[in-house]
Amino acid sequence: MRTSPGSRILSVGAYRPRTRVGNDAIAALIDSSDEWIRRRSGIESRRRAADDEDLVTMATAAATKALAGAGVAPRDVSAVLLATMSYRSRATTVAPLVAAALGATNAAAMDLGAACAGFPYGLATADALVRSGAADNVVLIGAERMTDIVDDHDRGTAFLFGDGAGAVVVGPSETLGISPVVWGADGAKSDLLRYAETGTLRMAGPEVFRWATAVIPPVAERALEAAGITAADLAAFIPHQANLRITTAAARALCLPPHVRVATDVITNGNTGAASIPLAMAALNGTSGRALLLGFGAGLAYAAQVVELP
Ligand code: COA
Repeated sequence: MRTSPGSRILSVGAYRPRTRVGNDAIAALIDSSDEWIRRRSGIESRRRAADDEDLVTMATAAATKALAGAGVAPRDVSAVLLATMSYRSRATTVAPLVAAALGATNAAAMDLGAACAGFPYGLATADALVRSGAADNVVLIGAERMTDIVDDHDRGTAFLFGDGAGAVVVGPSETLGISPVVWGADGAKSDLLRYAETGTLRMAGPEVFRWATAVIPPVAERALEAAGITAADLAAFIPHQANLRITTAAARALCLPPHVRVATDVITNGNTGAASIPLAMAALNGTSGRALLLGFGAGLAYAAQVVELP
């Protein structure tokens, strides 16, 4: 087993469903308006998966792009990790199906359940696998078909969520391309965001909003400290895309200098759960340097780390 001093993200790939849905179509079902949705969430539209765009096809498409970008052959993948909160079956998991579709026949494959914090949780796991020598190349995917778990008639959630998949390849590195993770969970508050008996999501929006805006600044500061840098050293801030107001409040609390690009993928793609960070990373294509990633959501779980962008 060959251990490695560090690991890094080699590439990123994205899959966004073909259909874009604007606010008006949703507002009609929940006695809302385009103006209210934009003002309270910053969201203008989101992607909705069609019947042929299931979790496996979306995740496989994103991972195929990431593998091509990294120049890694599917047979050289040691592990496929898939973060999702929208797969209904517990008897099978999605990752083995995606590994088979990719042709990653030598890979371990498992799903990760940390909801909207799933991507940074997965990145910490991938980093540990690579550094320990347990894996060479890890494909980490965040994929969601939130359409399957959101009630179109629920005023608190119907307008927020979208579908899609983002993937990265993590491989060995001589330097620390993925800095130590700062993570945790507050299960005592898990009732604030959970599945109802109907099998759809229910959220105490204002309470989740307050929790998120309180937890983000100290977790972000600890992640910067763990990486040995300050906000001025960042090229980008890529928080989970939950609500533009949460992102804006977090950027303000961190006193980010003007050169730091702040991910705002939520405006056109809504909240895509575990997929939102890799999708937002793909949208910042062309930015190089260090990025602070920060995921938060159901659990209530959170995780953050600084990465070198691919
Ligand atoms: N359309 C129009 N009006 C609505 C509405 C809707 N979809 N939902 C609620 N309202 C009304 C309420 O009835 C309330 O009316 P009132 O003032 O007359 O009582 C008012 O709008 C404010 O409701 P509130 O729930 O306090 O809104 P908010 O400002 O908290 O915004 C969210 C709602 C969901 C956008 C916001 O709470 C949020 O983003 N929370 C965090 C969500 C999140 O990030 N979740 C994922 C974490 S992974």
